[in-house]
Parts: sequence; structure tokens; C-alpha cells
Amino acid sequence: MPLVTSKEMLLRAQREGYAVGAFNANNMECVKAVIEAAEEEKAPVILQVSQGAIKYAGLEMATAMVKAAAQRAAVPVALHLDHGTSYDQNVICLVVGFTSLMFDGSAEPLDRNIEISAKIAEIGHLVGIPLECELGKIPKVEDYFSPEEIVALQNNPNTAEAVEIVRQKAGAKVESLMADPKQAEEFVKRTGTDALAAAMGSIHGMWDDIWPLRIDRVKEIREATSLPLVLHGSSGVIRTRKDAEARGIKLLPNEGTLEDAVKAGVSKVNVATAVSMAFLRGAKQAFEKRPSERDLRKILQPGLIEAKELVASYIRLLGASGKAEVTGEASEKSVIMHAE
Ligand code: G3H
Ligand code: ZN
Repeated sequence: MPLVTSKEMLLRAQREGYAVGAFNANNMECVKAVIEAAEEEKAPVILQVSQGAIKYAGLEMATAMVKAAAQRAAVPVALHLDHGTSYDQNVICLVVGFTSLMFDGSAEPLDRNIEISAKIAEIGHLVGIPLECELGKIPKVEDYFSPEEIVALQNNPNTAEAVEIVRQKAGAKVESLMADPKQAEEFVKRTGTDALAAAMGSIHGMWDDIWPLRIDRVKEIREATSLPLVLHGSSGVIRTRKDAEARGIKLLPNEGTLEDAVKAGVSKVNVATAVSMAFLRGAKQAFEKRPSERDLRKILQPGLIEAKELVASYIRLLGASGKAEVTGEASEKSVIMHAE
């Protein structure tokens, strides 16, 4: 079906108490994995094009991949710009057919962030395309740890200890970057944004789902504004309280999980790193099994399958399964193991 905008998708999710998963369109396999998972789960889904994907594939290619996949999809798909850098980039995306925009003005002073966001909201709304804006700053794990330190944390068999190390080194800084609820109210009024990506204690690019979310801040922001809230950096957030317990991670009273965040009113959940890691895991296992393989599809397809399972598991966790009206036939499934 044709692309849909994220506006109705998120408003319905907000009304009905679930969240829509937003996954990154990094290559053709990931795009197919996301669409196939959404079809199997009968869920609406957002495919987003990040700044990295624009550099890697080019805007034209990334956009064309999502459009082609969405056209064949039996579930609604929105094409979203992830962490848009400027007014100009948003306008270009509007022109090439994005159905959901984002401006990340977190590096700008607040007034400038508001000014640019308001301009983008205005032009987007002229043609019915909604905007998501960032308030506060959602940091990257690389802001606090060197690549060697990240590998060490990743390989630490004691998950609770790894979380403690992140808390000690980055906790206070992540907290200081969180969005201010009073500012959120003002920001929403002055920008006219349709969705708010508020910094609520998550960190971009974590290697595992182990990090506690500041659920107190999620609730405060929820009370300050009635707009759909967006959670970034969701790959690192602990999925459920049961998971936290199983992994020996103690949650403080003001902390929570992804499941808690959806209950508290988050309507869009961005997951990128976890999909990428699932894809790499599948491809790596295939390559280890068949080191002399000459057909790259036979290595990439197991990556697609892993990524698809991961995406489906998030869709279920977010409560989005069964929330799409399924129309027409599902996309052609990627079964190419014996392709020549
Ligand atoms: O904008 C993209 C997301 O916030 C993804 O973050 O890679 O930590 O899941 P993640
Ligand atoms: Zn993000």
C-alpha cells in the first residue's frame, strides 16, 4: 500500500496504549526484515532513514528501498527522517516523499531549536506531513566510552557490573541532558511539533538491552504535554522487569523498563543498534559455517532472518501486534537460500 504518515499511526497508538516500532533502513535486508516482521505481526511500522544511512546508501537509494518495500507491504508503513540535521534537509525529504520528518536541534540553544523546529513544522503541515523534534539531548555511548572500553563492557559476563560501570561514568551526565518538563510544555506550544523525542535517560548505541530508563522523567514529560512521546536509544533499554531480575540488574525507584515506558505513554520506540547486531549475528554465524561460500545472499539472508525475529519481538513487546488493518497480500518473502 502507499506510504502513510506517522501522525495517525502515533495518535492511535497513544489512544490505545501501545507503541509503534521505528526501525532503521540501513540496507535492503533490514528493510525487508522490518516489513516482513510487521506483516507477520499485523502491525503498523515506521522505517526511518538515519544520517548514517544517508551517507552510506545515499538519500535516493534509502528512500527508494523503503518506498518499494512499502508499496508491496500489507501493513501501513511510514517513511521517517531520523535525526534530521537542518531545515534544508527536512525540506528535501519532504520533496522526495518522506511521510514523517524529524529535526534534532539538540546541539542548538533552545530558542534556535524552537525557531527551526517551528519553521519545519509549518512547511510540513502545509502538505500534511508531521514532525518529530528532539528536546534535551539523547547522548551516544561513544560520548562516554572509548571503543576499547565498549568492547570490554560488551564482553563483561557480569551484566549487573557492566551497568554499574555505565552508571558510575555516564549516569550523572545522561541525567543532566534529560529534557525539562517545563521546557517541554513551552517547546510543544511554540514549535507546533507533532511528536516529542524527549531525552528521558536513554543512551544511543548500547550493545545490549540492560540500561534502566528514567521512568520518573517519562511520566513528568507525559504530564507536561499531550503529544505522542518518542523514545530514542531503545536498543539499550531493559525490556521488562522480569528481564532485569533475570540479569541481576537492580532498578532504582525512579527507574523502569521499555514495558513500563509504553505503559507510561510512549508511542514511538526507535530501535536501531539491536537490529544491526541481530543482522550481524546471523550473517557471522552463516559465514563461520560456510567460510568458502561464494554467494553473498546465502550469508546475508541468515542476517535478515535474525533481524526479522528481533524486530518481531520488539513489535510484540510494544503491544503493536494486530494493530494494523492488513490489506492485500503480504510481500514476497525472502527465501533465497537456493537462489543461483
Ligand atoms: O534514532 C534512532 C534511535 O534512537 C536508535 O537508537 O540504536 O540505540 O536503538 P539505538
Ligand atoms: Zn535516536
